[in-house]
Amino acid sequence: MIRLAGLTKKFGERFAVRSLDLDVPRGEVFGLLGPNGAGKTTTLSLMMGLLEPDAGVVDIAESGPPTDVGVRRKMGLAPQALALYQELTGRENLRFFGRIQGLSGTQLDERVDHGLEFVGLTPRANDLVAQYSGGMQRRLNLAAAILHEPQVLLLDEPTVGVDPQSRNHIFDNIEALKAQGRTIVYSTHYMEEAERLCDRVGILDQGELLALGGVNELIEAHGGLGVLTITTEAGEVRSIETENPVIALADWNRSELETVRSFEMERPGLERVFLNLTGRTLRDT
Ligand SMILES: Nc1ncnc2c1ncn2[C@@H]1O[C@H](COP(=O)(O)OP(=O)(O)OP(=O)(O)O)[C@@H](O)[C@H]1O
Ligand SMILES: [Mg+2]
Repeated sequence: MIRLAGLTKKFGERFAVRSLDLDVPRGEVFGLLGPNGAGKTTTLSLMMGLLEPDAGVVDIAESGPPTDVGVRRKMGLAPQALALYQELTGRENLRFFGRIQGLSGTQLDERVDHGLEFVGLTPRANDLVAQYSGGMQRRLNLAAAILHEPQVLLLDEPTVGVDPQSRNHIFDNIEALKAQGRTIVYSTHYMEEAERLCDRVGILDQGELLALGGVNELIEAHGGLGVLTITTEAGEVRSIETENPVIALADWNRSELETVRSFEMERPGLERVFLNLTGRTLRDT
């Protein structure tokens, strides 16, 4: 559904995106994971046709580049920098964006009502956006991106800076959009989100894809060993790095005299994958 080939974008001498090749099949939720400045927003802007690549191509639904008006109609973007009018109400914002998307008449009314309902803002529809919380503004930003029912949806850090309630709402929204068969590219630097939502993940760092695959696949390939932490009755804590914590625990129990009070098994996650690939943590960069 989305194909990038050799996609490259430079700002001055710096590569923001470098020779990116990627195929996102129809119906997939693809996570673009990377630290600040990795090139996530630049990649999504290129996918949407908002930036012109220095080299390479973007093809959407085998129909051409996103700069083509007919192709762009199939796409929606919820930008990282909120694109909302503070001095208009939620409903007025959606009506405005709906008209830009070519909606009018009863179809516009219906799509706006549906959008408000979908993101749970119907009761606040007639309040000014300036009076919305950060999480409510994120939800309205998502509603604005889906008014014209795009097949391809690009979400740039859709949960950044939101409260847990709005975050869960947005998760449910993304799962519902996926169930409708839409193709979603989702950028984030929260690993738990990617682990929960994404069929596949691409790890982006300094404009390059370092790894690509399913979450479990990436953990298997780059996560390294699990860690078994044992606390003894005497209160001593031991950490054992092991391929198989269950066997390590049984071995330890057999050969050591101290009794186990508690134990914890930590499976490596995407955080560790990123650390192993880049030598840095996602949060600290
Ligand atoms: N308009 C611009 N002019 C100059 N440099 C830019 C511009 N936009 C992005 N860059 C640079 O390109 C690189 C990638 O930026 P980008 O915004 O794509 O990263 P990101 O992964 O979205 O980061 P974040 O997590 O902070 O949103 C950075 O080095 C950034 O400074
Ligand atoms: Mg960004």
